[in-house]
Amino acid sequence: MKLVMIGTGYVGLVTGTCFADSGNDVTCVDLDAEKIRRLKNGEIPIYEPGLVELVVRNSAAGRLKFTTSAAEAVPTAKCVFLAVGTPQRDDGSADLSIFFSALESIAPYLAKDAVVVVKSTVPVGTNAEVARRLRKLTGREVDVASNPEFLKEGCAIDDFTKPDRVVVGVSRPEVGTVLHELYKPFLRTEHPFLVMNLESSEMTKYVANCLLATKISFINEMANICEKVGADINHVRKGIGHDQRIGFAFLFPGVGYGGSCFPKDVRALINVADINGIAPRILQSVDDVNEAQKEVIFQKLTSHFQGNFAGKTVAIWGLAFKPRTDDIREAPALVLINRLLAAGAKVRAHDPVAMDNVRKIYGDKIVFSPTPYDALEGADVLAIVTEWNEFRNPDFNTVLEKLRSPVIFDGRNLFDPEKMQERGFHYSGIGLESQSKPQAH
Ligand SMILES: NC(=O)c1ccc[n+]([C@@H]2O[C@H](COP(=O)([O-])OP(=O)(O)OC[C@H]3O[C@@H](n4cnc5c(N)ncnc54)[C@H](O)[C@@H]3O)[C@@H](O)[C@H]2O)c1
Repeated sequence: MKLVMIGTGYVGLVTGTCFADSGNDVTCVDLDAEKIRRLKNGEIPIYEPGLVELVVRNSAAGRLKFTTSAAEAVPTAKCVFLAVGTPQRDDGSADLSIFFSALESIAPYLAKDAVVVVKSTVPVGTNAEVARRLRKLTGREVDVASNPEFLKEGCAIDDFTKPDRVVVGVSRPEVGTVLHELYKPFLRTEHPFLVMNLESSEMTKYVANCLLATKISFINEMANICEKVGADINHVRKGIGHDQRIGFAFLFPGVGYGGSCFPKDVRALINVADINGIAPRILQSVDDVNEAQKEVIFQKLTSHFQGNFAGKTVAIWGLAFKPRTDDIREAPALVLINRLLAAGAKVRAHDPVAMDNVRKIYGDKIVFSPTPYDALEGADVLAIVTEWNEFRNPDFNTVLEKLRSPVIFDGRNLFDPEKMQERGFHYSGIGLESQSKPQAH
């Protein structure tokens, strides 16, 4: 099938490449000429494991092309996917200006039987608005499908090619059939292809992300309570996770969620609820708890240094909002760096792939270290913010040697506190048993 992706970011590039790999003829369109130039040369502008090989192979086979011109790509396409960003406005609502301008850029070139597929995450009612605008722009009915994306950065290819489910919103069943053909190669293990109306499909994406964000804020709040009352969230987590009604997924305490999806999607649904007269009490708390959680390491450092950061150097391991990506949008590490710099501390940071993106924000205000151990050179403490695999088994003797004092604040609970004590560290995680006595009843 001839396909066009409008927007060649984390979602559009992965989607386009995986569809090319299953034999479709795919053209990826992006406004960013530099991005397209690099992609044509087989360079990948983002870090996503396994993607470069797939892009190179499918480009060489002639199934995957890149252009800046919608006029060139769209006329022959059966499905035109919109995969552009839908960032948040100051009031938390989704900013659809990029999205609708992308829609306008394709409208004049759509073939008579083309289906416009909305992959961007958009608030409920947007797909119906897309259909209305297309009617106005083309003077005819254009089929529109909502097809939210559930991939996770860092394992995007696996998620896309082995989806738990594919969700499609349509207003005519025939449109669902077209998309089913496209997704069939990825559904051979009987994972469901779920067809519903446009509004349910739009809501499915937000509800999924909001529930996952809720689990994270929930376990973070529980961890904070555990820490105060002499309990250990790691034990509590196991104690609840073996209950099959609860399970283990997404119940790891940490320094709060970040990234390009959860924060903005929670706030966008808060906005939709507000507009529709529903008080979004749970969602608001999820967001509030998360914002507070991003401050936890800085608070611990403040109390460690008794509020005086002058002459202090903090080493940070991990800058990306999660491992296996270079995405730093809403990353908790940025909150920590901002606080440390404002307090007068020096920062030495290491991340396996996200340092170039962070350098664009801070320039030489912080030191970027080529290895995790370099970051420790002359640092007073180590703060671990992202749980990259390479941080899980460091050479602790080297860590002890390089740090000025053996102090680690671990925002991801990578190590066993008892063993860390035996190794000679003052080690503090999230929600781990502490000296503090519970408040008397
Ligand atoms: N990143 C994720 O993990 C993820 C997962 C699921 C859903 N989503 C959703 O998918 C959408 C895209 O997210 P992303 O992270 O891929 O965004 P992104 O910012 O990485 O990429 C968007 C791309 O669209 C391009 N673009 C903007 N306007 C354009 C136009 N008119 N024509 C052509 N290209 C244009 C930009 O240059 C950019 O390269 C968002 O709605 C997001 O919420 C993202």
